Amino acid sequence: MSELITRTQVAIIGGGPAGLLLGQLLHRAGIDAVILERQSADHVLSRIRAGVLEPGTVELLDQAGVGARLHAEGLSHSGFELAFDGMSHRIDLQALTGQHVTVYGQTEVTRDLMDARSRAGLPTVYLASDVRLEGIESDSPIVRYVRDGQSHALRCDYVAGCDGFHGVSRASIPASVLRSFERVYPFGWLGVLCDTPPVSHELIYANHPRGFALCSMRSVTRSRYYVQCDLDEKLEDWPDERFFDELRSRLDPRAAATLITGPSIEKSIAPLRSFVCEPMRHGALFLAGDAAHIVPPTGAKGLNLAAADIRLLARGLIERYRHGSTTGIDDYSRRCLERVWKAVRFSWWMTTLMHRFPDSGGFGQRVQEAELSYLVSSAAASGALAENYVGLPFED
Ligand code: APR
Ligand code: PHB
Repeated sequence: MSELITRTQVAIIGGGPAGLLLGQLLHRAGIDAVILERQSADHVLSRIRAGVLEPGTVELLDQAGVGARLHAEGLSHSGFELAFDGMSHRIDLQALTGQHVTVYGQTEVTRDLMDARSRAGLPTVYLASDVRLEGIESDSPIVRYVRDGQSHALRCDYVAGCDGFHGVSRASIPASVLRSFERVYPFGWLGVLCDTPPVSHELIYANHPRGFALCSMRSVTRSRYYVQCDLDEKLEDWPDERFFDELRSRLDPRAAATLITGPSIEKSIAPLRSFVCEPMRHGALFLAGDAAHIVPPTGAKGLNLAAADIRLLARGLIERYRHGSTTGIDDYSRRCLERVWKAVRFSWWMTTLMHRFPDSGGFGQRVQEAELSYLVSSAAASGALAENYVGLPFED
């Protein structure tokens, strides 16, 4: 069977939040894009990820025209709790930064973007297999893929690699030009989603001798809980009862007493990793989101960082198509990486602060305790935590 050839301005690889958001912003600027996604839409929506949006992310979703449900259903949080040593301390984001975060699941952001895309009749090829990038060092790249046994060639001006950590885009950049930086943590997060009211109206991050725990939520009737676990744990060894006993044992007494448990509707184990690749552009290919960087979920920066990349990429491409200027896209990698490294540092720091490390020893443990105590007793230290948590300001 012969290859079918089509053309677009921007080929977007990956239909997760990064790819979908880029598609929406480009569409609103009159720029054509096709999204190629390896999985089905249902599969993309079945992945449970973090759910805390920085104000800058909310603003961008508004600009993309997908903010309505988020404003109606998202929960505005003006603080969160840090629990350790049997006590809980509130970090007042509103007082420290004048800003709040919005709790709204990544799955819902993805759904809103998918709905907007299908309402606008924009092309997304789901179940696109064997995606290959060719000619990214030229000004006429081609993305080849197979759908239903038919081979396709998509010609374009630019390729946006929004295909996550395991995607094909980063792997298409020659090893000689790519540098990567990585830290793998010696534990994972065991997460449970359940239809019960959250233990508290705000998030609780707990550091306990048995390990880290996080009480989060998706709505006033749906909770998301995590406990730090060993990397070799098996899900079948964690029936709901054991999970909730473990969670309760890591919370402060007041929270432990008010925890309402119920059957889990999702349970998973995720390893924790920090990863950055440099540069984020090679020729006509631009990497964005998890394709270029991964942060551990402590601090919930993953989606926000992906949105920050897309903000710059969309602007750069719009400048290029509207005014013929390549300044924005030429500066893309440098400007993204500046913010990426700050969020990588913050996520690494918060992970280091809140988890029990198998090899930290007595000295490391005491330093961690001193840092937690300093953090909640110094306005300067709480302020530094808060300004990173709500998201550092954008240059523009
Ligand atoms: N071809 C086409 N699509 C691919 C390919 C491929 N070879 N490889 C991966 N994909 C798709 C995946 O199926 C996935 O739907 O790319 C998408 C990438 O989406 P995400 O992994 O969600 O990454 P991103 O859109 O960058 O989202 C940012 O924020 O909370 C964090 O890590 C979390 O996913 C989240 C991220
Ligand atoms: C979540 O709700 O899944 C969540 C919230 C905050 C985090 C990480 C995950 O820091």
